[in-house]
Amino acid sequence: MTPLMTAIEEIVRAAGSRMHAAFTATDKPAYSLKGRQDYLTATDGAIEEFVRAQIEARFPGDKVLGEEGGGSVDGKRLWIVDPIDGTANFARQIPHFCISLGLLVDGRLEAGALYEPMQDELFIAQRGKGAWLNGVRMQVSSVSDVGASTVEVGWSTRIPVQTYLDMVGRAAHAGCSVRRAGSGALGLAYVAAGRIEAYAEAHINAWDVAGALLLITEAGGHVNDFWTPGGIENGNPVLASNAALAATMQELFGTPLV
Ligand code: IPD
Repeated sequence: MTPLMTAIEEIVRAAGSRMHAAFTATDKPAYSLKGRQDYLTATDGAIEEFVRAQIEARFPGDKVLGEEGGGSVDGKRLWIVDPIDGTANFARQIPHFCISLGLLVDGRLEAGALYEPMQDELFIAQRGKGAWLNGVRMQVSSVSDVGASTVEVGWSTRIPVQTYLDMVGRAAHAGCSVRRAGSGALGLAYVAAGRIEAYAEAHINAWDVAGALLLITEAGGHVNDFWTPGGIENGNPVLASNAALAATMQELFGTPLV
C-alpha cells in the first residue's frame, strides 16, 4: 500500500462505518425522491460532508466534486465522491451499496476506491500499483464464451426506457446472463474482481464511476474513454469488460473500449 492508498482506505472505511451504522440503526433512514426513482437520504449529505472535510484536512488545496454538493469540475488534483452509490438500495434496506472515491490528476485517474460496508469489502487501485480487494490482488475473469458470461446493465431515468431494453435484449440474445443490482460502482468493481464479465450503462455520472474505473484496467480489463471532454460535467456511457470478451462486448453495446 502506498501512502496515497492508505489515506484513501482510511477515508472510505470511516465513511463506510458511518453508512453501516445508519443502515442498521433502529430508526431506519428516511428517504425522499430528488426525481422519479432518484433517491436521497440524510446519510448521503452527511457522508459527503465528512469526506470533503477529510480531503481538505489531508490534501489542502485539492478540489472536490461530489454527487450531493457539486463543486469543481477541473483542477490539477480533483477528487470525485459519491457518498452512497446504490442509494435506492440503501433507502429500501437492500444491503448492496458503497462509497466511491476517485482522484484525477491532470484529468487522468490516479487512484480510486470503493468500500462496501455490509460485507466489509474494500476495492482499491492506484495507477501502476494493481487493484486489490481486501489486500488480495484482483484480476478480471478469463471467461471467453459469451454463453457463459454474466453482464450487468445499469438503468436510470436519464435515458429512454427503450434504450435500456435494447441493451438488455441484445445481451440476452447473445447468450449473456443479464443482471441489475442497483449500484453502478459495485457492478464495475465486480468486473475487476472477476465476479462478472462486463458492466454497461447508456449514461452514468462521473461520481458513479470515478472510484471504480481504475480497478478494471489495473485488474487487466478494458473500459471506454469516460473522461473525454464533458464526461466530468455531463456524464457519459460506460462499458467495462474483461479482456477475453472485450471485442464482443464492444460490438454488443456499441461503445468503444480502449
Ligand atoms: C445510481 C446507481 C445505479 C446506476 C445509476 C446511478 P446513485 O447512483 O449507481 O446503479 O444505474 O446510473 O445514478 O443514485 O445510487 O448514487
